[in-house]
Amino acid sequence: MTLSDHEVGIKACVFDAYGTLFDVHSAVNSLSEKIGPSHAMLSALWRKKQLEYTWLRSLMNEYVDFWQVTGEALDYAMDEYKINDNALHAELMNAYLQLKTFPEVKEILTLLKRCGIPTAILTNGSPKMIEEAVSRAGLSDLIDHNLSVDELGLYKPDPKVYQLAVDRLKVPAEQIAFQSSNAWDASGAATFGMQVAWINRYSQPVERLPGEPAVVFSDLSSLPGFVGVC
Ligand code: LAC
Repeated sequence: MTLSDHEVGIKACVFDAYGTLFDVHSAVNSLSEKIGPSHAMLSALWRKKQLEYTWLRSLMNEYVDFWQVTGEALDYAMDEYKINDNALHAELMNAYLQLKTFPEVKEILTLLKRCGIPTAILTNGSPKMIEEAVSRAGLSDLIDHNLSVDELGLYKPDPKVYQLAVDRLKVPAEQIAFQSSNAWDASGAATFGMQVAWINRYSQPVERLPGEPAVVFSDLSSLPGFVGVC
């Protein structure tokens, strides 16, 4: 039997934010001329350090919010590329509050809304960050819940984060479709028991981690078919 449409019994769609709905590299891209030739590497290192710091801080029990982590990761990345410019740091942080969404995002969220599927974002982002990103991208009416790890004081992929979605949506894990482009986040949610769509936007290899995604898509366009209600 294949895992098709109604067999999965999906009752809600939960989305990772950064990298899945929002293009994290659009912050640096918007200032690429000012940054110069190292801009793509700066953006990649910024993201890499941002994630590493969340994992490490969770392990150390030294939570600070994602805004601070993002700023400190940018400090590190700017140091690496010998960019000493406080004004640019501030501009990049401001750009992180107005990230572009990937091209199909609005259309797919609109379709899910029309089909009556509850939607949520479950993110490492602080409430201020995610509310601002959602509102600036014009998604406020399309997302029912913005759920942030901030109220737990720890980061993905701790199972308590995925439990937060179950508790708030009042839908069991196996009836939640969880979408993430971050393979390690997809792994965390699948291990927890959600139906995971790994949105492999950059054709990355499979991570050697526990937890199988139910499906792998290159973007969110095939999600309504997977959810099976539209
Ligand atoms: C988030 C990061 C993992 O939005 O992308 O939670």
